[in-house]
Amino acid sequence: MRSITLLSGLFLALARQGICQNQTFDGLAKVYHESSLLRVQNNPYRRDGQPACTEENIRVRRSWVNLTFDERAEYIAAVKCLYETPPLSPESFAPGARHHADDFTACHYNQTEYIHFSGWLIPWHRYFVWSYESSLRDFCGYTGALPYWDWTEQYESHTQHPLFDGSEYSLGGNGEYVPHEPQNLTIPVPSKPLVFFPAGSGGGCITDGPFVNVTSNLGPHFPVQETTGLEYNPHCLKRDFFETLSQQFLTTASVENLMSQNSIGDFRQVLDAGIHFAGHGTVLGGMSDLWMSPEDPVFFFHHGQIDRLWSIWQEQDLAARMNQTSDTQTWDNVPASPNATVFDILDYGVIGDGRVEMVDIVDTMGGFLCYRYE
Ligand SMILES: *[C@@H]1O[C@H](CO)[C@@H](O)[C@H](O)[C@H]1NC(C)=O
Ligand SMILES: *[C@@H]1O[C@H](CO)[C@@H](O)[C@H](O)[C@H]1NC(C)=O
Ligand SMILES: *[C@@H]1O[C@H](CO)[C@@H](O)[C@H](O)[C@H]1NC(C)=O
Ligand SMILES: *[C@@H]1O[C@H](CO)[C@@H](O)[C@H](O)[C@H]1NC(C)=O
Ligand SMILES: *[C@@H]1O[C@H](CO)[C@@H](O)[C@H](O)[C@H]1NC(C)=O
Ligand SMILES: *[C@@H]1O[C@H](CO)[C@@H](O)[C@H](O)[C@H]1NC(C)=O
Ligand SMILES: *[C@@H]1O[C@H](CO)[C@@H](O)[C@H](O)[C@H]1NC(C)=O
Repeated sequence: MRSITLLSGLFLALARQGICQNQTFDGLAKVYHESSLLRVQNNPYRRDGQPACTEENIRVRRSWVNLTFDERAEYIAAVKCLYETPPLSPESFAPGARHHADDFTACHYNQTEYIHFSGWLIPWHRYFVWSYESSLRDFCGYTGALPYWDWTEQYESHTQHPLFDGSEYSLGGNGEYVPHEPQNLTIPVPSKPLVFFPAGSGGGCITDGPFVNVTSNLGPHFPVQETTGLEYNPHCLKRDFFETLSQQFLTTASVENLMSQNSIGDFRQVLDAGIHFAGHGTVLGGMSDLWMSPEDPVFFFHHGQIDRLWSIWQEQDLAARMNQTSDTQTWDNVPASPNATVFDILDYGVIGDGRVEMVDIVDTMGGFLCYRYE
């Protein structure tokens, strides 16, 4: 009896780790799907004062193309509403903020040097996009979950995805073409890395879709250094489609490579070595602004996909991966800072709960957060 129990336990553990599955992304996603469903059906998690996360109240996030057209219209209406909802940021912090979407941009701007190329990158953005999803629901009556951009879905090119087809059910297409050159630039942080900024096929304001009249009020800060960040500078949403990076990094093979990493440190490095930037770098314009990129609604679709990949990776071996941290609390550890730990407090200013302990958000079904991916 005992050996059978041990054996079946071992089998389950191996299945969880994806060892009995093949290591294709579809195989790993299947393990995730089954394991996360089982967990929510038997959810032991209940944090103080929080309702348990159950199949009834869980938010299920789906790829944009798996939403019905009515669901897409509901999401878009809620996002437009966010650009018309008064800001929460005090004037002393973000004098330029004019709506709640600006609050997200301001918050990201304020944390940029801690939440990129650091141990906070992945968890910080998890709660950030969750807060955005919650704002759409709390302020704008949205009833669904955050959709994501699965950029491995096969279309002629990444920017041919239905998200960008310019219809009323899209986020709009490319920016108007304005002549511009690629640039080599130094990122204005203590470690001052030199980065190459490509020139895409647009560069100006978007010309179609539901967000043509949307105004973002903060930035740009980088690569176009028009403002220092938080002062009032109303402008349209700009895009500058560029396919080269996406062909290399936004692929199933690249995702499978990410998934094959055995530690969160390696996972973070592989993410930062291309995938993370490629999502920003395919759209460019506002999305290329390392500080201000949440001004473009695409941001939340790309980071939704990254969060989904982290969730799928975590679920393959929860005991080892749920609480794992790596790196430190600053960009490339400049200036030097303590190692990131699961007990770090992540700062969001006026967004959501403001300050969140990492351990409360490492599980997407931990009671505090309550969502999973389809
Ligand atoms: C691996 O799994 C995927 C998805 O379940 C399946 O489509 C594929 O045929 C499998 N490949 C092998 C070699 O078993
Ligand atoms: C989502 O849509 C894609 C493309 O239409 C389809 O291949 C896939 O099966 C759908 N997924 C689900 C879970 O319905
Ligand atoms: C940027 O730097 C790279 C490497 O130093 C160089 O090959 C390239 O020509 C530069 N590009 C521009 C536009 O200055
Ligand atoms: C944008 O504004 C113009 C001018 O007011 C208006 O005609 C058009 O319908 C608006 N488009 C959207 C998508 O809101
Ligand atoms: C993560 O750490 C917290 C706090 O120590 C602990 O309660 C929880 O059980 C850990 N989760 C896993 C999966 O180890
Ligand atoms: C920080 O992490 C590094 C690399 O994992 C490790 O070598 C070092 O001992 C850690 N430092 C502290 C103070 O825990
Ligand atoms: C700005 O960032 C600092 C440093 O993390 C933090 O203490 C502060 O709460 C943040 N303010 C806002 C309004 O986000």
